[in-house]
Amino acid sequence: MIATGNLAVLGAQWGDEGKGKVVDLLSPAFAVVARSQGGHNAGHTVVVDGDEFILHLIPSGILHPGVTCVIGNGVVVDPAALFAEIDQLHARGLDTAGRLLVSSRAHVILPYHRDIEAAAEDRLGAQRIGTTSRGIGPSYEDKAGRCGVRIGDLADARPGGRLAALIEANVAERNRTVAGPALDWRAVLEDAAGVWPRLSPLVADTSRYLHDTLEARRPVLFEGAQGTMLDIDHGTYPYVTSSNATIGGVCTGLGVGPRALDGVLGIVKAYTTRVGEGPFPTELDEPLAERLREWGREYGASTGRPRRCGWFDAVGVRYAVRVNGMTALAMTKLDVLDNLDELRICTGYRRGGRVLIDPPATIGELAACEPVYETMPGWAGRGRTAGVTDERDLPAAARAYLARLEALGGAPVAIISTGSDRGETIVRPDSPIGRWLAACVPAGEHTR
Ligand code: GDP
Ligand code: IMO
Ligand code: MG
Repeated sequence: MIATGNLAVLGAQWGDEGKGKVVDLLSPAFAVVARSQGGHNAGHTVVVDGDEFILHLIPSGILHPGVTCVIGNGVVVDPAALFAEIDQLHARGLDTAGRLLVSSRAHVILPYHRDIEAAAEDRLGAQRIGTTSRGIGPSYEDKAGRCGVRIGDLADARPGGRLAALIEANVAERNRTVAGPALDWRAVLEDAAGVWPRLSPLVADTSRYLHDTLEARRPVLFEGAQGTMLDIDHGTYPYVTSSNATIGGVCTGLGVGPRALDGVLGIVKAYTTRVGEGPFPTELDEPLAERLREWGREYGASTGRPRRCGWFDAVGVRYAVRVNGMTALAMTKLDVLDNLDELRICTGYRRGGRVLIDPPATIGELAACEPVYETMPGWAGRGRTAGVTDERDLPAAARAYLARLEALGGAPVAIISTGSDRGETIVRPDSPIGRWLAACVPAGEHTR
């Protein structure tokens, strides 16, 4: 079955909302799943009949043999990480051959990026960002500084050529700013060039590929990484990642125009988590944070770090809906709240004598905000949501909680997720996504 339009799937909080699960669920309706930004800082989990797959660079549509996956120009690619991911999929019987493309314009993460990041985090001390240590930020810095190495550059490692000159200059800069043993640029060049034979069959002009796909009216799912609050422009700067996790990143990161976007699905957890440093207004104290962490298995899919846990922040979600023009929401991990007697929802930020309905721009102001909470009854002891696949089977208090989140969030909830497995999902038939999926036509007969 093929969707009758293209859909962007984006995180509406601080990442780890369950994008991987939702992208995998929707993928069979799409011909192509394309990643627009971020790198292997992302960890997107897909669980199928108890088998867990964690995707970092490869789009979460890869488990479906009919889907082609695209890594766009806006992604930063560590070739070793990409190969490791391909190898892991192969080891589990999943063949990516012929259906994984990498943009020749994507920037490459090289070993000096990781060294520069480690030194920068050390220098920041208590103010460190708490990055994933993958070299993401410094690779994007080189891109903006116009000295980055792009995938296409790896094709030509001749002495005196562009790649050699770039790596020599970048390694010299790294050796000036990072303490400890110097890197040998020739070794870095040799390793970088060494990936080309394996990488080159995947390399393509992915913007052209997407353009042709869209022209042929084959539907594309655009997969975002991270989330709105980690966006370099709209997030809690400087405690953000170094790319646009919001909707504009889809267009710049894939070379597609805005008219390619027929819908924007925001993924939200029924509570909030954040991994790494930075302000988090609704963060819970222990021991409740610890209980949510255990129930929700809130440990980073990339780094294994414990995630900070907090109440649902409707200010942040409403902001994400507005900034991205989200047309629908998928609400995940409702089941994690099954054991709570009482739930809180942040409806505003109190600062001085005022209640703000939008997140303030600076972290100083954000840190000075007190969440304004509204309390709702939980459903502990009065039914469970875990594994429920028919909305009518949800406890009444869970339905009331969802209705309140939907009203405060400002976009219709189309998907409710009640467990990590692909099947533990409710797609509302009368929602934008539900109607869309219902309108899917058999492959070959599609029209838009
Ligand atoms: P992503 O980065 O947005 O793709 O999210 P992650 O994969 O990093 O984190 C989401 C985690 O929650 C993963 O371990 C998922 O398997 C899990 N998950 C997703 N949806 C649900 C759900 O509805 N209930 C529960 N209990 N776990 C879920
Ligand atoms: P997915 O796609 C959650 C966080 C890091 C750190 C900040 C900057 O799985 O939702 P970076 O290494 O990107 O420079 O780190 O961003 N971060 C994520 N948090 N989910 C992610 O991706 C993240 N990718 C980066 O923890 O706070
Ligand atoms: Mg994740």
